[in-house]
Amino acid sequence: MIKVSFSHVNEEKLVDFEAYKDKVKEIDDKIRNKTGAGSDFLGWYDWPTSYDKDEVNRIQIKAKEFIENYDTLVVCGIGGSYLGSNAVIDAINGLYPTSKMKIVYLGNTLDPNYIHQILEYLKNRNFAICCISKSGTTTETSISFRLLKTLLEEKVGIEKARKAIVCVTDKEKGALKVLANNEGYETYILPDNIGGRYSVITAVGLFPIACAGIDIVEFLNGCAKAQKDYDNPNILENDAYKYALERYFLYSELNYKVEMLCSYEPRFRMLNEWWKQLFDESEGKEDKALLTSSCVFTTDLHSLGQFIQEGSKILFETIIYVDKPNYDVEIPSDKDDLDGLNYLAGKNLSFVNNKAYEGTLKAHSEHANIPNITINLDEMNAFTLGELLYFFMKACAMSAYLLDVNPFNQPGVEIYKKNMFHLLGKKGY
Ligand code: PA5
Repeated sequence: MIKVSFSHVNEEKLVDFEAYKDKVKEIDDKIRNKTGAGSDFLGWYDWPTSYDKDEVNRIQIKAKEFIENYDTLVVCGIGGSYLGSNAVIDAINGLYPTSKMKIVYLGNTLDPNYIHQILEYLKNRNFAICCISKSGTTTETSISFRLLKTLLEEKVGIEKARKAIVCVTDKEKGALKVLANNEGYETYILPDNIGGRYSVITAVGLFPIACAGIDIVEFLNGCAKAQKDYDNPNILENDAYKYALERYFLYSELNYKVEMLCSYEPRFRMLNEWWKQLFDESEGKEDKALLTSSCVFTTDLHSLGQFIQEGSKILFETIIYVDKPNYDVEIPSDKDDLDGLNYLAGKNLSFVNNKAYEGTLKAHSEHANIPNITINLDEMNAFTLGELLYFFMKACAMSAYLLDVNPFNQPGVEIYKKNMFHLLGKKGY
């Protein structure tokens, strides 16, 4: 369950939700009836309740086969094609997972140092590959996939390699689809009407997530719950829309420039990255939008914490806090107490982390008058994370339409590619 609260936003910085009732209703109509800019990309809207059950079943069967036969899965993709699965896998399994299959990521960089080291590492692993690209032509992904395929074929032979490769791509077009058909790889579909940053709920996210041993149906059930919970045009009864409106108000009326997503758990770092892509790629257009940033506390309280508390007042915070940890650790007593920690002996770390959360909330919202929106999850599991991701996706669509930009395109991303292709001498550039 997710609980969104604005009680740490001072009254003068809190939007009058009621005043935007009609505006929000009008935008909700656009999303619901697919009449706004970019409406061809609203396939995610009812996906949690309309997804292809046969495909999900196929994914589960193949993932089980992969878990039984390989020790490592290489997810090869960039941007929306890997951030969602990486976010979910880390948030659920943690950073030192006990799951059978190790998940590593490639295709998300052109850095020869990183790529060399992963390829060297894979020489001693019994690995499988999941290549993910909607367009099928993304340079980073294509180069990495060529390297991975070559390595695997050299290692185990063409026939065995064929069984160890799956692709997620367009249902009929693109270079990856052609290659997969030619080689006879198992493929899953990224539907035309769902863009990369909304694709974690499709095979793009689901295949790697299933290989990490996470229950993907439970994850989709969580998304479906959020689809229902936030399917309400009334701003007063829709927390996703309230969150979207408050961030819009802070940006457009109070001139805030940055939204910082903060959590108290290192396993949420990739969730931060997924969230940043979702909002920045959706909204950063036409010289508009908040810049997103992120922190993991208490770690970053010892670095960025100084700026947040006393630096220029350009940011507000959105805090994700999980009430019940999956694991806890008790602080032991020490007979000499030289470190002076015996006052905490017998207490759990969750208690200490919680006090850090409460103390920071007070320091930032009361002492520094920084608006703090809080999002509490009762616990972190596949279901609640599904709820959270869908909550953000729905909020993002509303937020971008409030700014009057198309939430679903990314024209700015093309410009570096054109320059790079020209410099590389690619035909036609
Ligand atoms: O959100 C997006 O659309 C992008 O981040 C893409 O996912 C990313 O550029 C990768 O594209 P593709 O899946 O076509 O390789």
